[in-house]
Amino acid sequence: MLSEFLLSEMTRLGAQDALPLHRQLYEALRRAMLDGKLTAGERLPSSRDLAQDLNLSRNTVVAAINQLSVEGYLLSRVGSGTYVNDNVPRGHSGAVARHHARGAFGAAPGRLSVRGLALSTAFCATQLEVQPFTPGIADFSAFPLTLWQRLQNKHWRMTYPDMLDYNDSGGYAPLRRAIADYLRVFRSVQLEADQVIVTTGTQQSLELCARLLADHGDTVWVEDPAYWGAAKAFMATGLAIHPVPVDDEGIHPGTADDTHPPRLIYLTPSHQYPTGAVMSLPRRHQLLATARAHGAWVLEDDYDSEYRFSGPPISSLEGLDTDGRVLYMGTFSKVLYPGIKLGYLVVPKTLVAAFKQAHYDLNRPGQMPLQAALAEFIEMGHFSSALRRARQSYGERRQCLLEALKPVLAPAGSEGPFISGAEQGLHLCLRLPGQVDDQALARRIAQQGLTVRPLSAYCLERTDLRGLVIGYGYAPLTEIARCGPVLAAAVRQELEGARSA
Ligand SMILES: Cc1ncc(COP(=O)(O)O)c(C=O)c1O
Repeated sequence: MLSEFLLSEMTRLGAQDALPLHRQLYEALRRAMLDGKLTAGERLPSSRDLAQDLNLSRNTVVAAINQLSVEGYLLSRVGSGTYVNDNVPRGHSGAVARHHARGAFGAAPGRLSVRGLALSTAFCATQLEVQPFTPGIADFSAFPLTLWQRLQNKHWRMTYPDMLDYNDSGGYAPLRRAIADYLRVFRSVQLEADQVIVTTGTQQSLELCARLLADHGDTVWVEDPAYWGAAKAFMATGLAIHPVPVDDEGIHPGTADDTHPPRLIYLTPSHQYPTGAVMSLPRRHQLLATARAHGAWVLEDDYDSEYRFSGPPISSLEGLDTDGRVLYMGTFSKVLYPGIKLGYLVVPKTLVAAFKQAHYDLNRPGQMPLQAALAEFIEMGHFSSALRRARQSYGERRQCLLEALKPVLAPAGSEGPFISGAEQGLHLCLRLPGQVDDQALARRIAQQGLTVRPLSAYCLERTDLRGLVIGYGYAPLTEIARCGPVLAAAVRQELEGARSA
């Protein structure tokens, strides 16, 4: 019954549109849920059975199911299969379609919207506590709090009424100058201070770009695997996410499906999140040429470039841009502390006035005393010293983790586990063979009080990647030294199990 419905929907969609098969199946399954043919709590046939019934490859089925899970329609329960989420609105296809057409995504009162459902579903299959090795988290216990309090007090004491108002000029001018000076020297960004817009962090920078540069339903190319925060920002703004695979040279525009021309391309070229790949120079030129050919804007997220431990410095992609299509964004989350909620967006000169106006109208930016304190923190050299100390300390932690993982790596030149992305940032990626269930492994490691993230959970569409994304920024060196061998032992045990299976 279900397979008949899915087959007829796919045939209809295939005749209408040049959709790839996984997308046709995604749409057909979504329709089955919205029309009540699959009901809340119902178990989906296994991907193997679906593939057989529909005469599709298993990868196609898994890609469709993964996308529906990411968007909150389906829930996977370990060992027992995939189920329709309880929150999926049923029998509302007409209403949902009408709301989609209006761009409102409405749903019955008391229910989440379809978009709300997607946004409120955790991206990684499980939410794990922040513990040693959680990626993306810095050690903010090292932040010079006393000095920071003194600067904040000083600027609150000096505050005059204007500083308590909203700000319509893109942020506190001395802070924008300080950011511009830093980016020009250390990241080779080509800019004037006027092009810097201070935001509440990367999330807000992304939302501004999505809202101002793309319309509802436009396509954004996103790295696969991806930073979940970016994917959610694009979902929230109603863009169609088109995953583009990443390899060891970064995002590969040559493999993108040209039937989905991008309006925006989002990438992390200095240290791909989460694989850690550094985008090669030829690939950078290829990406800029592709963006030019499509008339697309490029969103460069340079989230952890402050920490580079080995290899030559990596300049920004923006520095290679000759026609003003790259928007560059950074954050103070990783160097100061995440709760500071300050980041920056560098926009091409032609967009400055539009971005300032829209930022003011949409977000009513403020926090001038905080921005003034940060400007002084940077001008007086405290930012550089904090960075120097952090680099030293994270470098030692990284080295200690690398040593602990050495015994599980394959010998150079042979197939097997290897590490990617350890030259920069606050995390590395231990890449594992395809037969390893990295999600189960991460759960087993969590039972030992350690949090790592399974690489496959960051994938939007692809099914070939396995590994562990491991942070070394959060825990002190002594903890890394204690926990590294525990982590390595769990990985070794898993590899032995996978080999003998
Ligand atoms: C790829 C990437 N971009 C940006 C951020 C941080 O963004 P925000 O400034 O919103 O804290 C993170 C945090 O983990 C990240 O991993």
